[in-house]
Amino acid sequence: MCGIIGFISNKSCTTKLIDGLLKLRYRGYDSCGLSVLAQKKLYTFKSLTEPQSLLPLIPNHVNHTVTAGIAHTRWATHGVVSLSNAHPQVTHGKISVVCNGIIKNHKKLRDSLIQKGYTFESETDTEVIGHYLDLLLKKHDKLEAFSELQKTLTGRYALACILEEDPECIYALCEDMPLFLAKTAQGIAIGSDLYAFPAHDEFCQFDSRTVYQINANGCSNKTLHYQKSDISDTPSTLNHPTHTLSEIYEQPGLIQDIPALWRDRCPIPPFIYGAKHILVIACGSSYHSALLLKYWLRDSAIHCDVDIASEFKMNPPHHTKQSAAILISQSGETADVLIALKQLKTNNTLALCNVMHSSLPMRTTAKIALHAKKEVGVASTKAFTAQAIALRLLYDQLHQRPILNPDVTSECTQQILMRSKEIRKIAYKYRSIKNILCLGKGEMLPIALEGALKIKELSYIHAEALPAGELKHGPLALVDPEVLVITLTPAPCNYMDICIHEVKSRHGKTLNIGAVCEHADDNIIISTGSSPLSFLPLNTALQLLAYFFAEAKGLNIDQPRNLAKSVTVE
Ligand code: G6P
Repeated sequence: MCGIIGFISNKSCTTKLIDGLLKLRYRGYDSCGLSVLAQKKLYTFKSLTEPQSLLPLIPNHVNHTVTAGIAHTRWATHGVVSLSNAHPQVTHGKISVVCNGIIKNHKKLRDSLIQKGYTFESETDTEVIGHYLDLLLKKHDKLEAFSELQKTLTGRYALACILEEDPECIYALCEDMPLFLAKTAQGIAIGSDLYAFPAHDEFCQFDSRTVYQINANGCSNKTLHYQKSDISDTPSTLNHPTHTLSEIYEQPGLIQDIPALWRDRCPIPPFIYGAKHILVIACGSSYHSALLLKYWLRDSAIHCDVDIASEFKMNPPHHTKQSAAILISQSGETADVLIALKQLKTNNTLALCNVMHSSLPMRTTAKIALHAKKEVGVASTKAFTAQAIALRLLYDQLHQRPILNPDVTSECTQQILMRSKEIRKIAYKYRSIKNILCLGKGEMLPIALEGALKIKELSYIHAEALPAGELKHGPLALVDPEVLVITLTPAPCNYMDICIHEVKSRHGKTLNIGAVCEHADDNIIISTGSSPLSFLPLNTALQLLAYFFAEAKGLNIDQPRNLAKSVTVE
């Protein structure tokens, strides 16, 4: 979702701002823009396309003399996608604001500002901030005005602001949303996502309810406490056309490496070992990985509940101070998960997260890193795999089993990737299909759900997953020659054979993934061996299938329409 990057430096920093915007794209965006201060004047440029399109808009004399700037990728929440709604939002050509999140009391503020004669050019809640600040600056000095602003705004937000009258500064404040600062070789960077920063060794995270006045040396009104940065690798798509494909191909390596990291140092906190009740909370793909844990724990003495974070918020299931809660999130910034965390009755909270400097692991009692490395594709692939492995390792540890040997699963996943041409051919054959049903049983049901989600996200084909046994209890009514039914059968299974016959009798198409089923129209044959992770190669085959559906339809695979990688609003 929305992203902020800002720079203040003795050298011109426009290219750094554009670089930052390019790196923020993975979060999902539909417009972008930047404001810069050059020779004591404020300039603003916006675009509804790629961040690179901003560069030619900036006149040379401005470009060469920029001292400070703020930039933003917007994912529309308040108001349509348009240049006037894109950030920065500017007041009287003098105050420029970029904002992530939502200002809850924007309507009330807007009404009172209109009464005072202010006019609005956008539908955004952000425009209110600059206008209100303008009013405050008439009565207060700058830091006081920002402090009053912070006291007035309600909601979860992070914002950065530059003022024409103060060309050497960026002002920043946040409430329950991440905002960072780092010293880089190119100057001081601030922003909402460390991945958008140039190389840096240390960073600090801004506190809520605090105004920061940033200059070219750091912060002039607060002492900052730096932490070591854990960002080492810049992901590249060197051997693949997209980040998503590159991430799918990283999975055999992750399957191999993650158990070894646990062998070196088991990261499970003591409260998990003692728990009689484990509550797992997540959204999207992370929720599907949680369902695997529930399935594995179903016959153990530990009672496991799995809840979608947004459902938990509405109606939390019974839990006590003694329950253990595991919150799973690739990004660590999913608003619904963070809100669920606040509502928990227990402090026994464990984050399973891929971005260790994000909000979730900073707020839970314990944390486990997924070690998937940075995931850029909006649709989660390798992070799901890393979650599934972490949860299996956790399950095995709870039952005092040795760390699993991943060799067979890693090799088998590699084999699937080497057969990608075969999967591509099948995807191209069915690319015009309008509806897909994915059938799974037992441990394969979460994989069917994840596969259906990947197909929806990447290819926009309507896909649903269901327990194979439920096919005849309703969904069979959907089956006609336009429907493709995908069956997941890691081992020969009579039950799936029956399903395939039922579908074929109604002229539906069938694709079986796993052990061969001779009645299916098509097969992707996978022999998984008997590892506890044997579901992963089937999941990889589904990822590739979804990927090639999207490729066949010529879609933007890394950034599917309407989706965002970290959903930072409710
Ligand atoms: C978004 C993404 C999904 C992801 C979900 C949960 O909807 O598009 O791919 O599974 O958020 O994200 P999280 O970062 O909490 O795992």
